Amino acid sequence: MPKPRRTQDRQDYYYWEAKRKGYRSRAAFKLLQMNRTFRLIKEGDKVLDLGASPGGWSQVCREFGAEVVAVDLNPMKPIEGVIFIRGDINDEETLKKIKEVHREYDIVICDAAPKITGHWTIDHLRSIELVRSAFRIARQVLRPGGNFVVKMFQGEETQRVFREMKPFFRFKKFHSPRASRKRSAEIYFVGKGFRRARNYVFLKGDEEAREVAEQ
Ligand SMILES: C[S@@+](CC[C@H](N)C(=O)[O-])C[C@H]1O[C@@H](n2cnc3c(N)ncnc32)[C@H](O)[C@@H]1O
Repeated sequence: MPKPRRTQDRQDYYYWEAKRKGYRSRAAFKLLQMNRTFRLIKEGDKVLDLGASPGGWSQVCREFGAEVVAVDLNPMKPIEGVIFIRGDINDEETLKKIKEVHREYDIVICDAAPKITGHWTIDHLRSIELVRSAFRIARQVLRPGGNFVVKMFQGEETQRVFREMKPFFRFKKFHSPRASRKRSAEIYFVGKGFRRARNYVFLKGDEEAREVAEQ
């Protein structure tokens, strides 16, 4: 793990815990906490980990006995049992490579984050773009009944993107794990029980979701 620059980070409990337990990122604890709350990953599951580098979430998935396919723009040091694809989740080519490894996955997790500019709206919109790319991939590869977790930076599009995704899951919720920093704008969408929204009866107000379902 790179040394944290800010004093606040150096005092961060999860940073030192990650170092002590051999996790590559403090983010590992967010997945551990979400898994404890929502029971997302089981032994033998095929997990697709988007925005995976440096690999904390992939390490956690391996501990649960899952098979992992990890994707990132940046390189990632090898982890036993993890197949790594270097690529952009916005690109069709990356989706093709993901499907070449497995046609279906039990769970898609995405912790991808844009480069932070410090400008709230720009960071929010770039993060929403990543959410939509991750969701587009999830719709193509998730098995019926599968789970989906995706990070976003909160802002004006948050509720809209929630409405787009909600018909596709039996259970859906926004969640903020304790390991997320208090000052952070990040929040996770947790969707369980994936279903094709084709058979969904769209209600008034679900127009965004209908558009997505028809794509
Ligand atoms: C917060 S880190 C992920 C940490 C990881 N979950 C862990 O536990 O180690 C966010 C990652 O998203 C990746 N990322 C951002 N945009 C991406 C994109 N368009 N395609 C693939 N990866 C992307 C970044 O390269 C970065 O490694």
